Amino acid sequence: MAEPSRSTAEDWSAAQYLKFEDERTRPSRDLLAQVPLAAPRRVADLGCGPGNSTELLVERFPGAEVIGVDSSPDMLRQAGERLPRCKFVEADLSAWKPEPGTELLFSNAVFHWVPDHPHVLKRLLQALGPGGVLAVQMPDNAKQPVFTALERVIASGPWAASVAQTKGRQRKQLLKPEQYYDLFRPLCRRVDIWHTHYNHLIDDHAGVVEWFKGSGLRPLLAPLDAVTREAFLSRYIDEISRTYPLRCDGKVMLTFPRLFIVAVRGSGA
Ligand SMILES: C[S@@+](CC[C@H](N)C(=O)[O-])C[C@H]1O[C@@H](n2cnc3c(N)ncnc32)[C@H](O)[C@@H]1O
Repeated sequence: MAEPSRSTAEDWSAAQYLKFEDERTRPSRDLLAQVPLAAPRRVADLGCGPGNSTELLVERFPGAEVIGVDSSPDMLRQAGERLPRCKFVEADLSAWKPEPGTELLFSNAVFHWVPDHPHVLKRLLQALGPGGVLAVQMPDNAKQPVFTALERVIASGPWAASVAQTKGRQRKQLLKPEQYYDLFRPLCRRVDIWHTHYNHLIDDHAGVVEWFKGSGLRPLLAPLDAVTREAFLSRYIDEISRTYPLRCDGKVMLTFPRLFIVAVRGSGA
């Protein structure tokens, strides 16, 4: 079978992403629980993916116009099938602007993929009226063993040069909480920032790699041919096995810190 073109290989796969739907949706629930709005008229789910986070917004705000924005055709197709009454828009968040009257910008597990995301978020906050809310969650797990193991794999195989060239398309670094606070607070009446560490139980070591095939591994694997990709994944499973001892029930505990921000717009420019 022919190799997929790079753009297809690099697109998100809704099916792969949804293999861990429950675990991936839980932070959305936790973020939404802190959104201090009763009945916003217009809500946007930024990086809506397959519509799992959008569905929570529709349930919580039944009277709102909810739109989903994403750059992935596969994700948008899945979201449209899941929520046929919602409007989904294909756009790059780096340049996208909310429609006037939008009162909530919600985003779960997206902005660590967007170049210069702190300033994109600031621009989006500036587009909200007083009382409008920006609610964002991003994984803050770059220093976790699962990623230090990945660095070892990348450095130690014939794929090192190809993977290094994908640097610009890999996930971006987060700021410290206090840096987000200083950036957003002059525009806001309240900025709430917190971390939650989830301890996900994964069936086995291969399952951990399966998880990241749906997210962080995507750009790294895209330039590799099928044989090299399999060798890379197999080496990563070995490395994960050495890094994460099995728990008493044979499962792997994947500790996953995430950063949450809920910013309520004030009247400042
Ligand atoms: C990890 S998924 C999150 C999906 C969903 N929000 C959830 O809660 O599970 C990240 C999504 O962000 C989208 N994305 C990444 N960078 C983007 C960008 N610059 N513009 C628009 N969407 C982007 C991807 O296509 C993908 O669907």
